[in-house]
Amino acid sequence: MKTIATKIYKIKGTTASEAIDSEQIYTAGQIIREGGLVAFPTETVYGLGGNALDATAAKRIFAAKGRPEDNPLIVHLYRSEDAALVAKEIPPIFHLLAENFWPGPLTMILPAADAVPRSTTASLETVAVRIPRQRTALALIEAAGGFVAAPSANTSGRPSPTTAQHVIDDLEGRVELILDDGDVMIGLESTIIDLTASIPVLLRPGAISEADITRAIGMDISKAPPLAHDSPPLAPGMKYRHYAPHGQMILVDGGEEAVVSYINAQIAIYKKRGSRCAVIADSDTYRRYHADSVKCVGSHGDGEAIARNLYRVLRELDDELTDVIFCEAFTVSGIGAAITDRLYKAASGRVIRV
Ligand code: TXA
Ligand code: MG
Repeated sequence: MKTIATKIYKIKGTTASEAIDSEQIYTAGQIIREGGLVAFPTETVYGLGGNALDATAAKRIFAAKGRPEDNPLIVHLYRSEDAALVAKEIPPIFHLLAENFWPGPLTMILPAADAVPRSTTASLETVAVRIPRQRTALALIEAAGGFVAAPSANTSGRPSPTTAQHVIDDLEGRVELILDDGDVMIGLESTIIDLTASIPVLLRPGAISEADITRAIGMDISKAPPLAHDSPPLAPGMKYRHYAPHGQMILVDGGEEAVVSYINAQIAIYKKRGSRCAVIADSDTYRRYHADSVKCVGSHGDGEAIARNLYRVLRELDDELTDVIFCEAFTVSGIGAAITDRLYKAASGRVIRV
């Protein structure tokens, strides 16, 4: 792939009282309007943005990430009434959810309007929409014309980026511009809910929990069933092993003492074989492990901190070329379901209960 000179703008004026540099945002918006790619922060993870209504721009996004062609993109909006331009029908629940959670980390799946190119939706009849809660993102989407397709700004198969440096590591030379607005707030991708069936279906857990959603809409929702071999996945992205660490990852679930002694016993065995071992733990336990590398992701029970630090830690462990990664199964409420989902995928389902 041809390398392009990637510009990096450190966003100026991002404290609450200062205005964002409008010239930077204007230039970024113009790049997208002309078919180029701009990586930008959202509250969840950094996104790789291009014009969602331009089939060629959408194709460039796939190429830059090395993303499988059948994995559709989320269309980012800056105002909810614009959903009517990319969706054929808007069910009443959409309005309830938009009022409660937008701007914010919720993506809704709707029947797609003809205006959306097939390369954006990966030829599905549906389209994913979301309004992020991050002012650089909102300003950019408006400046870009209102419809920005943006998957996470990582190379396909790596953890989503939570800092501009992660984006630079993966996409420098592949995009026109990277907007650096510091670390993201949440650290895990948005909750995805499918509104095209009679009962909404949760396709991907995120910071907005199932309980938040049922409270807002006053009804239960269903969860995407586990993948069967013969049926097509509901969110095409679910069928890909999202991120697989260089080392083998093993989740260990159980009481604190049992988890610590199991992991240390395993490390002793692996070390004898000459393997490099790592542990991902919380602040209560991380000092107790005898691994080559121990990463503390946050205070015990602090799901927000664990979510914020997780992808950075996984990237660090990849850089350290670890052979085996033991990870505590963090049981926290709220964002905990999203943490478990991402860890389970990273571990390819390897969970040991002790
Ligand atoms: O938080 C986020 O959602 C971030 C930021 C940048 O907004 N974006 C993000 O995009 O995580 P991506 O492409 O990494 O994940 C989007 C997921 C994929 O699993 C994809 O298959 C699913 O959304 N998706 C997109 N359109 C869909 C559709 N029409 N039906 C079902 N799933 C869809
Ligand atoms: Mg992604």
